[in-house]
Amino acid sequence: MKTKLLEILLNGQYTSGQEISAKLGISRTAVWKHINSLKEDGYSIESQFGKGYRLLHMNKYVTPEKVRLGLKCKLFARDIIHFHETGSTNEEAKRIAEKNYPEGTLVIAEKQNFGKGRMGRYWQSLSTGLWFSIILKPSIPPRDAPQLSLLAAAALQITLHKEFHIEAKVKWPNDLLVDNKKVCGILTEMKGEMDRINYVIIGIGINVNQEVSDFSGELANTAVSLKIIKGREIDRLLLLQKYLETLEEFYLDFLENGFERARRVCVENSHTIGNIVTIYFGDKEHTGKAVDLGRDGALILKINNQEISFYGGEVSLKGK
Ligand code: ATP
Ligand code: BTN
Repeated sequence: MKTKLLEILLNGQYTSGQEISAKLGISRTAVWKHINSLKEDGYSIESQFGKGYRLLHMNKYVTPEKVRLGLKCKLFARDIIHFHETGSTNEEAKRIAEKNYPEGTLVIAEKQNFGKGRMGRYWQSLSTGLWFSIILKPSIPPRDAPQLSLLAAAALQITLHKEFHIEAKVKWPNDLLVDNKKVCGILTEMKGEMDRINYVIIGIGINVNQEVSDFSGELANTAVSLKIIKGREIDRLLLLQKYLETLEEFYLDFLENGFERARRVCVENSHTIGNIVTIYFGDKEHTGKAVDLGRDGALILKINNQEISFYGGEVSLKGK
């Protein structure tokens, strides 16, 4: 209802309570309540006796009604849970998935206080980035779930290319880099049994409008934002909507035709393939030339003339 109300107010004119109530088929008291709720969400709405309501300013948040406005998705973001602040959207998404929320539910936060990277690492999540998680329930074998991290990276690669002319590289298995610096990290978590997935949470963190000074210490050399790359502020809402649409397209294609489309994007824009790399997995390490991405998403290393597939771990580049 708030989305529809916002749609009406976007005309920038005064609209009377009566007209809104007729358009939306709700009482004038209900209109008044929804207007107040929009105000609480940070929208600035003027109300004048005899004239009605007029939208003065949108808020800067990625609120559900704004995300839904004009969004061309069939499956994703039908349910949206928005937090001004939370620990981690992946943790929230897990709680919500346990309550049987449908596939495609989007959990988004303006700011995370305990953003999680892989292996429980810290993920810096200032309010200028995009931090969100999507609940998926694919009927695929659990061993194929890591393909979804690469799929999410591939969809963002394409979105950044099409919308912002940014050429990002996919660093296997879960990052997107521009000029060797991380612009996006992906954390995929799963609940399932041996042969069946209950749900997968894809957590995506995109550095959007952070300044150079926001990245200090270790991050000063390893992290970058879209604003730093483009030299201008990026519309977080537009980016999120375009990304959700592309991600859904990739996901639906994945369900129907498998991993090949996402795989191709990852190979064509790989940061890893063609380099000598070391993969650290538990207390073991393996060094070899990264030669390909398997049909199943594995990174294939050539070690002593033998091709070996790796399904997880940390990759460190040693050069060509
Ligand atoms: P790998 O190459 O194996 O992915 P990694 O060092 O990139 O290893 P990840 O677990 O993928 O590790 O990512 C977590 C790391 O990302 C953290 O240790 C931190 O250095 C870095 N990091 C934290 N917040 C951000 C951010 N907002 N943008 C970019 N990098 C970040
Ligand atoms: C990594 O590179 O290690 C993955 C980082 C993933 C960060 C995102 S931000 C949204 C979601 N919520 C989290 O706590 N983590 C992921």
